[in-house]
Amino acid sequence: MKNIKDCENLNQKKILLRLDLNVPLKDGVITDETRINKILPIIEFLIKKNSKIIVLSHIGRPKGKKNYDLSLKPICKNLEKKINKKIRLINDDIFKLKKEDLFKDHDDQIVFLENIRFYEEEEKNDHSFAKHLAGFADLYVNDAFSCSHRFHASVSKITEFLPSFAGLQLETEVNALKKITSEIKRPISCIIGGSKISTKISIIKNLLPKFDNIVIVGGMANNIIKFKGYQIGKSVNEENCEEKVKEIFETSKNYSCKITFPNDVLVGKSFYDKSNIKELSNIMDDDLILDIGPKTINKIKNIIETSKTILWNGPAGYFENKNFAIGSHEIAKSIINKNKNKSIFSVVGGGDTIAVINQINDIKNFDFVSTAGGAFLEYLEGKELPGIKALN
Ligand code: 3PG
Repeated sequence: MKNIKDCENLNQKKILLRLDLNVPLKDGVITDETRINKILPIIEFLIKKNSKIIVLSHIGRPKGKKNYDLSLKPICKNLEKKINKKIRLINDDIFKLKKEDLFKDHDDQIVFLENIRFYEEEEKNDHSFAKHLAGFADLYVNDAFSCSHRFHASVSKITEFLPSFAGLQLETEVNALKKITSEIKRPISCIIGGSKISTKISIIKNLLPKFDNIVIVGGMANNIIKFKGYQIGKSVNEENCEEKVKEIFETSKNYSCKITFPNDVLVGKSFYDKSNIKELSNIMDDDLILDIGPKTINKIKNIIETSKTILWNGPAGYFENKNFAIGSHEIAKSIINKNKNKSIFSVVGGGDTIAVINQINDIKNFDFVSTAGGAFLEYLEGKELPGIKALN
C-alpha cells in the first residue's frame, strides 16, 4: 500500500479523505470521541502540507435516505474545536455539486460532505457515484480501516478513478493487527457482542478454527438463546438466521473451540428500565434481554483467567443505560486485572466497545485498541478487506 506520508508535493492538492466518524450519538450529542481523536494526525498532517481536504464519512445506517438525526454536524463542530479551524459542512445534493463549489473561499481548507450513506449509491458501490466523487479531487486517502470491510463507493470503487493512498491511522491498524495475528499466544479467546448481529453472525463459523474459546454476548446471543429453545420476549434478534446458528454449532464439532453463551441474563421492560436477573427459562413475552447475568459473568471471568490472548469486539449489553453496563464493565475489569500483571495480551475493537471501556476510564490498560468492529473481525477471519485490496 502506498501511504500518503510518502507522497511528494501535496501543496494545494485536493484530497478526498475517507474517515470513519461513526461515533455514538445520544440526542445529537457525541458520547465517545475516540474515533475523532484517532483521525487528528491525518488532518493535522494534511493541514501542514497545505492540502485542501474533502472529508467523506458515514454515520449510522440511514439506508440511502436523508435523515438529519444522522448528520455529521455535531462531528464537524467537535473537530473544529479540536483543530481550531473552520470547517464547512456541505449539505447540497452531491450530484448537483461541482468541484468549484467546494472551496469557494480561498482560506477554506476543510470541507465535509454530509453523511455519504444518505445516498443509496454509496452502499451499492456505484460506478457513476464514485466517478462523480472522484471528480472533486486530485487524490484519494482511506484513513477508515473500520469501514474497509465494506464494498462501498467511497471505500472501494472510488480507487478506480484517483491515485489512492492509505492514511496514517489505517496503516497503524493494519500493521498492529498483522503483528498481533502472527505472534498470537494460545489459549486465545474471542468475546463477540454488540448489536450488529447481521455483520457478525456469518463470521463466527470461520473463526472457530482459529480460537480456543468464542464467547457470544450482546444482541447476537439472543439468537443463540432462541435457537436453544428459550423465549427471548421482545429482545433484539436477527430474523431468519437459525441456519447460520445451526452451522456454527455443527462446525464447532470439528474443532476444539468452545462456544460460550449466556445462561442467565438481565432483563428490563424497556431500554430505560432498571434491571432484573433472570434464568433463561423465566423470560416473559414483554421482557427485553439487555445484559448478561452474574452466572454468565463468572463463566466469562474464568475463560479470561485461563487465556493468554483475549480479543474483544462488541459490548455485552445495552451499556447506554448503566443498569445494563454491568456485564461489559465486569469483562473489562477482569481483562484489565490480568493485563496489569502482564499475564494476558488484550486487543479490543469497535466503536461501542471502546465507548463502554471509556465509561470506566481504563482503555490504557489494553494492549491494542482498534477503532474497527466488523472490519476487525473480518481481518481476524483472514479475509482480504475490499478497502485494503483496492489500495493495493
Ligand atoms: C463501524 O462502526 O464498525 C463502522 O463505522 C462500519 O459501520 P457499518 O457496520 O454500519 O458498516
